[in-house]
Amino acid sequence: MNEPNGQKISNSASAGTSAIAKPAGSSPTPGRPVVIRTLGLNKIYGRGDAATHALAGVDLMVYRSEFISIMGPSGSGKSTLFNMIGALDQPSSGRILIDEVDVAQLSADELAFLRCRKIGYIFQQYHLIAYLTALENVTTPMAFAGLPADRARKRGMELLDLVGLADRWDHRPIEMSGGQQQRVAIARALCNNPMILLADEPTANLDFATGQSVLEILQRINQERQVTVVCSTHDHRLLSMCERVFWVRDGEIERVAHRDEMTIKLGSIDE
Ligand SMILES: Nc1ncnc2c1ncn2[C@@H]1O[C@H](COP(=O)(O)OP(=O)(O)OP(=O)(O)O)[C@@H](O)[C@H]1O
Ligand SMILES: [Mg+2]
Repeated sequence: MNEPNGQKISNSASAGTSAIAKPAGSSPTPGRPVVIRTLGLNKIYGRGDAATHALAGVDLMVYRSEFISIMGPSGSGKSTLFNMIGALDQPSSGRILIDEVDVAQLSADELAFLRCRKIGYIFQQYHLIAYLTALENVTTPMAFAGLPADRARKRGMELLDLVGLADRWDHRPIEMSGGQQQRVAIARALCNNPMILLADEPTANLDFATGQSVLEILQRINQERQVTVVCSTHDHRLLSMCERVFWVRDGEIERVAHRDEMTIKLGSIDE
C-alpha cells in the first residue's frame, strides 16, 4: 500500500512498522523543502521477450539536507534509480522533480546546468580522467561552469584538502589507491557546490577502513554543508549515518525505515 508521500506500508518487523507508517523525513516537518521527488517512475530496458522492468512505479521523496540510502540486492534497480534521479537517463514513464522542477520539462541547456551545478555524482568506479592530475580532475567541471582558472585551482585545492589529499594534487589516478581516487571523485562532485550528492555504491571497491573514511567524509559534507546525500549501497555501515533507508526489490520500494526505528547491528539487517 502506498502512502501519498511515496512510502510503502509493510508488515516487515525488521524495519519497524511504526517507522514505515510515518510520513517521510527525519522528524517530518510540513514545511521541510523537498529536493527530490519521483512519481510513478518506470524504467523498462529492451523490448518484447528481452524487456527488463528495472523500475516499477517508484514514488519517493527526499527532503533538503537529508542523508538517505537506497539498499537492495544486486539487480533490484538501485543504479537505475540513481541514474533517473541524476537525470543521466530518462524513465520509460513517470516524473522526476529536482527542487520541484520537472526534469522532463528542461531544455538541453537547463539539463546541462542541473547536471553540472545542482547535482554532484560519485560513481562506484570513480570515473576519473586518467591523464589528468587530481587537481585537474576536480577543476574540470568548474571550467565547464565558467569559473576562472585561478579561482578553480584555489577551490580545487580547498576541496582536495577537505578530503585529505592536498599533498596529492599532482598525482594521476594510476598513482593513487582506490580510496584516494574515490576521495578525488568526492572533491570533484562538490566542486560546483551541488545541492544534491548522488553516490552509487561509494564504498563497494574499498577495504573496510578506507570505506569508513569515505563514509565519514560524506557524513561531514552532509552535516556541515547541508548537502542532500543519496547513496545506493550494500554497505550496512551507511545505515547508522542516514536518516532514512529505502529498500528496493524488483524495481519497487519495498519498505522505508527511519533511523530512529532501526536497531543497527552490522550484518543483521536483511536485504
Ligand atoms: N542498460 C541496461 N540494459 C538492459 N538491462 C539493464 C540495463 N541496466 C540495468 N539493467 C537491468 O535492470 C535491472 C536493474 O539493474 P540495476 O543496475 O539498476 O541494479 P542494481 O540494484 O544497481 O544492482 P547492483 O547492486 O548489482 O549494482 C537488472 O535486471 C539489470 O540487468
Ligand atoms: Mg548498481
